[in-house]
Amino acid sequence: MRISVIGCSYLGAVTSSCLARLGHDVTGVDIDPRLVDELSAGRAPFFEPGLQDLLSEQAGTGRLRYTTDAAAVAGSAVHFVCVGTPQRMGENAADLSQVDAAIEALLPSLAPGDVVVGKSTVPVGTATRLAARIAEAQPEATLVWNPEFLREGFAVEDTLHPDRIVYGLPDGPAGARAKLVLDEVYAAPLAEGTPLVVTDYPTAELVKVAANSFLATKISFINAMAELCEVAGADVTALADAIGHDDRIGRKFLNAGIGFGGGCLPKDIRAFMARAGELGADQALTFLREVDTINLRRRDRVVEIARQVLDGSVIDRRIAVLGAAFKPNSDDVRDSPALDVAARLHVQGAEVRVTDPHAIENARRTHPGLTYLAGLDEAVEGADLVLLLTEWREYVSLDPAELAKLVRTPIVIDGRNVLNPRAWRDAGWTYRGLGRP
Ligand code: UGA
Repeated sequence: MRISVIGCSYLGAVTSSCLARLGHDVTGVDIDPRLVDELSAGRAPFFEPGLQDLLSEQAGTGRLRYTTDAAAVAGSAVHFVCVGTPQRMGENAADLSQVDAAIEALLPSLAPGDVVVGKSTVPVGTATRLAARIAEAQPEATLVWNPEFLREGFAVEDTLHPDRIVYGLPDGPAGARAKLVLDEVYAAPLAEGTPLVVTDYPTAELVKVAANSFLATKISFINAMAELCEVAGADVTALADAIGHDDRIGRKFLNAGIGFGGGCLPKDIRAFMARAGELGADQALTFLREVDTINLRRRDRVVEIARQVLDGSVIDRRIAVLGAAFKPNSDDVRDSPALDVAARLHVQGAEVRVTDPHAIENARRTHPGLTYLAGLDEAVEGADLVLLLTEWREYVSLDPAELAKLVRTPIVIDGRNVLNPRAWRDAGWTYRGLGRP
């Protein structure tokens, strides 16, 4: 099928290359010439496992091209909208300007029978509004809301083999016809038996934010338990293992630590609360305010422990921060808890030295005041304190005895509860986890 993808950042770059892999003929459009140049040259514009290989592979097929020319979408039967919906400056609500601009740019090229597929995360009610706008310009085109559930770090895998597919469709023959078109787009994953949920627009929109809210709640729940464990002298890791054996609860997303960040969970729960308020249902989501508060409190707690282990003050103390990305296997630093903690310690007078296998360039752009070192050894050299804040595999598997030789004082704060406390203590370290004795 001929498919256009509007917006070629994280979501669009992965979606477009995966659609080409599924056998479609894909045109990606973005207003950012740098992004388009990189993708056109077959280079991944950000670090995402598997993306570079996929782009290199697809570059040779002639089925995947990128452009800044919005008119290039003409002739595609299906148009994916994959632009960002960041948090509005100074507010909780989502900024929909990119979605609106993408739809406006698409309208002149829409032909009868075209299907527009909304993938961006939007406040409930947006699809109904956009469908009306599309109908004004091209009454025979149909909008489908098809939320995306990919995780950074597993984006290619999640897109090629999703755990479910959701279509939000309008009633009647137009919806039925659009469903057949999307079934063809997703023929490969559907043939693998991927569950398909067909529903209406508002439900499809809500599925996405409900899923992210649940995940955020799960993380804040275990972080609240970590606070309790800290005052009671208990171990939140053992607690999570034990409750996780109950398959109604499950062990996934019960890792206590410095909490969630990234371009999705934090802004999605805030936008959801804002939208609920507009709909007069704010009470239903007041618990998400607490989820957000618990999450941010973990960052305060790490800074507090750092001060404690350094005898009351971080001023002029050398602190090595391992990890800048919001999670491992990503170079994304949007709302990264690791960088936030590093910045707070820096402001409080510490000499902070940050390292990360892939995210230093992005981190330098958002936090230019911090010191970055590409090598782990340089970052920890002479440190009074080591903070593990993003659980990259190379940090989790560090040899505590070797590392002890490089630092000035062997004190480690394990912000992700991924190190083996006994092994580190046996190697002479003072070990502090979050919610661990
Ligand atoms: C999240 C969702 O997991 C995806 O399903 C969704 O599609 C995506 O948002 C989106 O809305 O686009 P992502 O932001 O890539 O994906 O990252 P997650 O794997 O959800 O991790 C989010 C944050 O939670 C990270 O900072 C991670 O370190 C933290 N986390 C995760 C914990 O602190 N504890 C856990 O147990 C798990």
